[in-house]
Amino acid sequence: MDPAQPLSGQVALVTGASRGIGLAIAGRLGRLQARVAICARNVRALEGAAEQLRRAGVETLGVPADVTRPGDVAALVERTRKAFGPIDILVNNAGIGVFGPVHETSEANWDAVLDTNLKGAFLTSRAVAPEMIQRRTGHIINISSLAGKNAFAGGGVYCASKWGLQGLTYCMAEDLRAYGIRVSVICPGTVATEFSPHTGKDVAKMLEAEDIAHVVAALVTQSAQSFISEVLIRPTQKP
Ligand SMILES: NC(=O)c1ccc[n+]([C@@H]2O[C@H](COP(=O)([O-])OP(=O)(O)OC[C@H]3O[C@@H](n4cnc5c(N)ncnc54)[C@H](OP(=O)(O)O)[C@@H]3O)[C@@H](O)[C@H]2O)c1
Repeated sequence: MDPAQPLSGQVALVTGASRGIGLAIAGRLGRLQARVAICARNVRALEGAAEQLRRAGVETLGVPADVTRPGDVAALVERTRKAFGPIDILVNNAGIGVFGPVHETSEANWDAVLDTNLKGAFLTSRAVAPEMIQRRTGHIINISSLAGKNAFAGGGVYCASKWGLQGLTYCMAEDLRAYGIRVSVICPGTVATEFSPHTGKDVAKMLEAEDIAHVVAALVTQSAQSFISEVLIRPTQKP
């Protein structure tokens, strides 16, 4: 591995990367010399993000895709492979939050959160894993949350999706580690993005999207015999 260009020749796919944490991760992987495919649902925002990355010197492919839709996921993976080659790094970052007491939550909101945060990661991971197994290498990194570890009032649906994502990660890690594929999970505390209003919290004390990108960079540059399986990351001062 060339320390100046550690991901040279590698291909990364980051879901939900038109803004926020996903965009920061895509930029960081690009700066480490990976070619990066990004997806999101809003085409204009996605094109803007792809252009921003290209201006920063990152070889970028933007593919509009909704990770809850199997057909979109298949096309996303296929277009990435065609443009750049086999995927070395998958970052399952796309996520949404709906908050409030479970007994007041609609079935539609339950489905939207679970389908995006959990089923989406299942669909993308299932789409890339066979080729990673063939090539006996790969990283799958799931962006969960401290809400995947801690309960709080109004967090029922979101926590359920992230606790599920934790379970999916731990089991996939066991399915795949014998093939040299590392499946890991990052659990951030509050990050200053457009994700939710974070009412009553001090933005200046929150984590920044770049802090999560920093962790992803550490995971994908560790040595082949080392497997950082889980990272919990909190703001130093409580926001
Ligand atoms: N911000 C926090 O405090 C925090 C803390 C811990 C964990 N997280 C997790 O970090 C991840 C990113 O959060 P963020 O703060 O960066 O959120 P964000 O600013 O709202 O960005 C979310 C991204 O995901 C995309 N997206 C949403 N649904 C999608 C779908 N079905 N298919 C494809 N793309 C989709 C959005 O674009 P479109 O809407 O155009 O699709 C956008 O690009 C999420 O998984 C979140 O749960 C966030």
